[in-house]
Parts: sequence; C-alpha cells; structure tokens
Amino acid sequence: MDRRGFIGAGAALALVPLLRQAWAAQPSAVDHAAMGHGAMGAEAAPAAAGLGLPFGRPLPSLAALPNQSARPGVFQAGLSAGAQPVPLLPGKPATVFWAYNGQVPGPTIEVFEGDELRLHFENRLPQPTTIHWHGLPIPADQDGNPQDPVPPGQSREYRFTLPQGCAGSYWYHPHPHGHTAEQVYRGLAGVFVVKSRSDPLAHLPEQRLVLSDLKLDADGKIAANSEADRMDGREGQFLLVNGAWRPHLTLGVGERQRWRVWNATSARVLKLALPGHELELVGSDGGLLQRPRRIDSLELPPGARAELVVTGRFAPGHGAGLLALPYRRGKMMSAEQEETLTLLELRRGAAAVATAPLPARLRKIEPLGAPAVRRRVVLSEDMANPAAMFLINGKTFDMARADFLGKVGVVEEWEIVNEADMDHPFHIHGTQFQTLARRNDGVWREEPFLAWRDVANVSAGETLRLRFRQDMPGLRMFHCHILEHEDAGMMGMLRVEA
Ligand code: C2O
Ligand code: CU
Ligand code: CU
Repeated sequence: MDRRGFIGAGAALALVPLLRQAWAAQPSAVDHAAMGHGAMGAEAAPAAAGLGLPFGRPLPSLAALPNQSARPGVFQAGLSAGAQPVPLLPGKPATVFWAYNGQVPGPTIEVFEGDELRLHFENRLPQPTTIHWHGLPIPADQDGNPQDPVPPGQSREYRFTLPQGCAGSYWYHPHPHGHTAEQVYRGLAGVFVVKSRSDPLAHLPEQRLVLSDLKLDADGKIAANSEADRMDGREGQFLLVNGAWRPHLTLGVGERQRWRVWNATSARVLKLALPGHELELVGSDGGLLQRPRRIDSLELPPGARAELVVTGRFAPGHGAGLLALPYRRGKMMSAEQEETLTLLELRRGAAAVATAPLPARLRKIEPLGAPAVRRRVVLSEDMANPAAMFLINGKTFDMARADFLGKVGVVEEWEIVNEADMDHPFHIHGTQFQTLARRNDGVWREEPFLAWRDVANVSAGETLRLRFRQDMPGLRMFHCHILEHEDAGMMGMLRVEA
C-alpha cells in the first residue's frame, strides 16, 4: 500500500472497482463468521458469513475531490448525492448505496486553513437533504442545518472560508430533519481535512481510516432500520475501513505513520487498540494536542475523530492489527459488543524502516477562560413514549424552538447530565469545545489533558462539564451523535446572537 502522497495519487480509486477486484480474488469468507455480531436482539439479521462480503484486500485509498479552481486559496468543486449500485455479493444483484459523486465513502475534501470553499451541491435523492460540515467553524446558514433542506432535484451552493487555526480532521454528512441516520447509513459521508502550513507532523507518512458500519439484509440490500436499531442505534454485520471489510496495510518495523481515524458509524463507541505496536494520541476532532500521549487504547465515540501516531513494532504474541475491543454502551434491545473485532490487519513490511522523529510539542492550546454563562443539558429516555423517547431537558426536538439564547464570543460552560440508561455522545455545531471534568458515582474527575473536540461520549449516569465559545451568530444544533437518537428528537438548538 503506498503511503506518502497517497492523498491525490490513485485518486480515481472508488469503491466499485475495488470491490470487484476483491470479489474475484477472494479466498473464502467462511472462517470470519465470528465477525458477525451473533445475537442481534429482537430480530435476527443474516450472519456475516452467509453474506460473503469480500475481505482481506489492501486498504483502499480515499479518492480526493478535485479542485476546479485555478485561483490560489479557492477550492471549488461539485458534489451530488444520488443512488449508486455497487456489486458487493457474489450471485446477488448490486447493492444500491446513496453516495456523494458515486463514491462510498464520499470524496475527500482537502484544503488549507484560510481557504475559501465554493461547493455546488445537487440533490438527486428521493428525499430532501443537506450537507453538514461536521465540526467546522463556519457560518450557520452554510452549515446544512435541517432548516435549510435542498429538495429532491434541486441544488444549492455552500460557501465558506476556513479560519486560521482550524487545521484538523472533519467530515461532511447529511442533516435533514428526521432522515440523517438513513442517509448516512446508506453511504452519504465523506472526510474533510484542513491542513496547516506549519504542521509539525507533516514529515510523517499519513493514512486515513474511515470506520463505518454496513448492515445488509438477506438479499444483500442495505437493511432498513429495525426497532432495535432505532432504540440502540444501528450497527451492522460489517465494520468497514474506507468501504472495505478487514483490509490490510503493510507497516515496516520501526516505521512511524500518522493515522487520521474517523468514527463514521451511526452508534458504536469504538475502543481502538493496536497491540504489539506503539500508539500515541496526537490529535482530536479539532486538530493537534499540545503534546503526544502514549496510549494503550482509545474510546472513539460516533462522529469523533482522532489523530494517532503508530510505530510498527510487531512485538511477538500480539493481535493482527487495529482492533475494536469490547465495549458496553447500555443497549436496550440488542447484544452488547462482547468480542474483539478486527478492523484492519497489519502486515510486516519486508525491510525495517527508519523511525521518523516525533516532536515533543505539537502546538499550544489555550484553556477557555471563566464562563459568563452556565447551562445544564439533561439527557433522558422515556421508553413509555414511543413518539418522544429520547429527550433533552425533558423535550423532544422542535425545529421552531431555540432552547437557549447565547452571544457571540462569550464562554459558556455546559454540564451534560446523562440520566439515561445508554451512553449518549454529545455534539454541538459550529465550534470546538474543551472538556473539563466528569462526574461518576458522585465523584468529579478532571479531564487528563486539553483538547479541542466536537463530540464527547457521556456514559449512562455520567455528567460531563465542558466549555466553548461560538464566534459566529446563528442557529446551532446540539445533539446526541447516535444518529437514530438525533432523528428521534435528542437534539436542541442554541441561537447565538451578534
Ligand atoms: Cu455530525 Cu449535527 O452532526
Ligand atoms: Cu455536526
Ligand atoms: Cu443517544
């Protein structure tokens, strides 16, 4: 697998041809039956083995969205959302995805801080949609709020300029009222990388890993959400990396790489580990940390991103690559993830590779100062009320109601109180926050380090304290990033005034 410069090179690689090759060369998928989740709760989804998805091919590169502008500092491109048949399973008709520009995952947008974007979007879906630029500090009227749908057959222009200091790993996905989960699980999601001209890790070869779930029915079609999916958040038989099932990647002994990882699943908290190698956390949703941190594993909630530095060690007696360790998130109707899942297999390169240095300091993060406003956001579940099961401060989402009124430039401190039985990953639009402390069983614990985030898991019974500032006026959504919960009403709005 080529590493350096894979960003633009081989950009034409889309999922379709990759899967075709994979299928032709596939040995047998039967011994990977364990990959399936076993009991799926109330209704049985077909086992992974029965579906025979190809696996074990090289990690696909993500195709780049080409810039059509010749002007420096301007990124101009077209995006369309529409149906895309993909031949997935031998002997079955092609699986119809919904895709941006026919690609699953969608094309990668890669730009620099300070760039101006002009994106022409066409909706060729049978439903209204929007494009939400998850995590980016951009004007609210360009952020794909559910209030600004693009009807089927219509188009619009998204325009924004990226401020200095926002370098990081973001993504884009639909955000229409009530249909976000469906549009994302049908394939609509792509990554958005903002680079800095002074990136202390620019010398490292880079990999990008988009983790997503695929749930198929017995005919190989993308399964509709079941009642259990709507309750617990959807999971699939297959955890994919860049659209491929259990692909492999070659790493040299001693080789150091930067990995950007996206949790683009609807609902899974992925507890990532890479046993036998060195793993350092260097960045979160909104870019680099102050310094690298050695870790054994990392809990990445749905919607969140991480930047990791991986050093190939291949210590004997360890697992095969990037794993998702068991994680219990309080699901009500479906089985918890009790087993370890393999996301990506690492193969040892033929030759040892010189280890590139990792700087001790990455950047400065200023802590947000004392808040001028404090708010409480209580997450709860009401299982007796199917029309409004997931609540924020006792209410279900209403497009006509702003829950809070805020002011541009003012630091707010929020306590996110999870009074529910499930984990709920909290997300807010338009800015990055700093998590300060968490309370569990009555005990507050300070967060171990400063980071810029836009998603943070709040486990059942936990309270999370965070601070942020909104630097632009407008309506900003905040919600649980289990997309089924968001669609079911676990969302509110902050109106920020100038
Ligand atoms: Cu990625 Cu409002 O969400
Ligand atoms: Cu968002
Ligand atoms: Cu939730």
